[in-house]
Amino acid sequence: MAIECIHTMVPQPANQESSKELVFDASVLRHQLHIPSQFIWPDEEKPCLDEPELPVPFIDLGGFLSGDPLAAMEASTLVGQACQNHGFFLVVNHGIDPKLISDAHLYMDHFFALPLSHKQRAQRMPGEHCGYASSFTGRFSSKLPWKETLSFQYSAHKDSPPLVKDYLCSKMGNDFHQFGKVYQDYCEAMSNLSLGIMELLGMSLGVGNDFFREFFEENSSIMRLNYYPPCQKPDLTLGTGPHCDPTSLTILHQDQVGGLQVCVDNEWHSIRPDFNAFVVNIGDTFMALSNGRYKSCLHRAVVNSETTRKSLAFFLCPRSDKVVSPPCQLVDKLSPRLYPDFTWPMLLEFTQKHYRADMKTLEAFANWLQRKSN
Ligand code: OGA
Ligand code: NI
Repeated sequence: MAIECIHTMVPQPANQESSKELVFDASVLRHQLHIPSQFIWPDEEKPCLDEPELPVPFIDLGGFLSGDPLAAMEASTLVGQACQNHGFFLVVNHGIDPKLISDAHLYMDHFFALPLSHKQRAQRMPGEHCGYASSFTGRFSSKLPWKETLSFQYSAHKDSPPLVKDYLCSKMGNDFHQFGKVYQDYCEAMSNLSLGIMELLGMSLGVGNDFFREFFEENSSIMRLNYYPPCQKPDLTLGTGPHCDPTSLTILHQDQVGGLQVCVDNEWHSIRPDFNAFVVNIGDTFMALSNGRYKSCLHRAVVNSETTRKSLAFFLCPRSDKVVSPPCQLVDKLSPRLYPDFTWPMLLEFTQKHYRADMKTLEAFANWLQRKSN
């Protein structure tokens, strides 16, 4: 996430004003040979569309999810290695109904094919992180992402109303009841899967399987639908610029088109799509929670000239009052605290109002907190 809502850096209110007129209407822009300058990235950040593939192992969650302790140990070892090295891995046999995944993609087609004015019923308002955004033209005026998104809030609290369904119906109308239900169910499935992954992360860090599971049990998370229309000059622009997700854990499902790239040892690699796999990465908040043991992974998405690409991103976030502070087992003389205590709403506000999430968000946030407390 790049919570794009949350995506991106640049403390520049003036800049935010000047781009108000630009509208990202995919039905027009997808055919256009001339790319507006706001979407053209500087040379040093321009993408390469066919980076070498990263050979990442698929971590099989089947045994762990059925309660086999040996399989859990094995999966947690693999998860731990991946998170120490780069913060990124793929899971299969995750137990999510394939019909739910394909429905989530199908309903996305339905939404983004609507006329712009209809999608704008859910328009994201300045300062908010939920709603429909076409490229973030309202917030930034350079290095704009070539995409449209629809983001919404999910709560795993046992007394919470079905926020996703209620939000989508209230913005889009009652015809969107089934649409809302699909994403409500999808978020619930992602929340459960992420709690399972939190058990593996806890085991691999030696803090026991309950610690992080409990921390995120009543998560208040964000779901984002990313829709990347074709671009006639895909080598000039980016679907999503380079960033680390400020959130805790991201579970992403990409369609068969391809475009996700991750940076490992300073080199970009593409991640081949696989319908049966979810791409999981550590975000800044979990990096802080693990006292820097696990890396928040740098990634981006490229576009292409022929095919629309879609991805479904679930961003796990702690309940708003939870203090992000590493467990004592992860702090000692040799590994002193790297980041100050904070709550997720503080980091969210930082990425919404003061900083465009990039690869240095966590560092900038820690410095900002430090300055504020002095
Ligand atoms: C994001 C993101 C990548 C993709 O939404 O934060 O990194 O492949 N998306 O869509
Ligand atoms: Ni991301």
